[in-house]
Amino acid sequence: MRVAVVQMDPEFGDVKRNIERAVSMISSETADLYVLPELALSGYLFESREEAGELAQTPDDPVFEEMAAVARSEAAVVVVGFAEKAGKELFNSSMLLAPDGSRSVYRKIQLFWSEKHVFSPGDAAPHVVECGGARLGMMICFDWIFPEVARSLALQGAQILCHSANLVLPYCQAALVTRCIENRVFAACANRIGKEVRAGRELAFTGMSEIVAPNGDVLVRGTVDREEVLVAEIDPSLADDKSITPENDIFADRRTDLYRL
Ligand code: ACM
Repeated sequence: MRVAVVQMDPEFGDVKRNIERAVSMISSETADLYVLPELALSGYLFESREEAGELAQTPDDPVFEEMAAVARSEAAVVVVGFAEKAGKELFNSSMLLAPDGSRSVYRKIQLFWSEKHVFSPGDAAPHVVECGGARLGMMICFDWIFPEVARSLALQGAQILCHSANLVLPYCQAALVTRCIENRVFAACANRIGKEVRAGRELAFTGMSEIVAPNGDVLVRGTVDREEVLVAEIDPSLADDKSITPENDIFADRRTDLYRL
């Protein structure tokens, strides 16, 4: 299975341009699964909730049609971050577009910094979607710092963590290696690059998108400042083996009777 992480530099507020750029980057590489960054259609640093609302979509919005068409024609899965409009609420969401036309949405459950003034936190547990030859779990950016998210996806059988990100702290790319080792799963982290100076703040996004194997090997890692599509060939079934020595299975050995969570 070929997995691609699409490291792009969305332009704030220009949904049409960002979709075109995303589709063009996806079309430049053949893969079975493409993961794109968080809020790839809108950009990140909103002045207000109202502004985010103007740049938000519902999951059935026609702007997703071009990406859905690529998923259909290439028999591939596309995971992309977007600002989701749901009645009066806004969520920071990821959408999984499957080759059969079905769509699945995950709403970020742990909001970072000023996102708390813009979005509602996700209202449903992270879940696993089986499609494209693998079991996929979506998580969004700051979710990485809560080990429970990756763990709960892995316990549900996820083989690949599809991590859409707009990372600004310096820790995740290294820490995700641990998430993979402790859960024996793959991770495909699509981070953005570039800078946004808005709302009285400046944020620089850290790039270095990566695909990590269940043993912690970094199969590919991107630059800090270039748009690029990084691809790795993987066997998702390797994530079904949770043994780490002949005597240790990291799931069977858990002491849920003693943990205080
Ligand atoms: C983040 O959660 N976008 C840092």
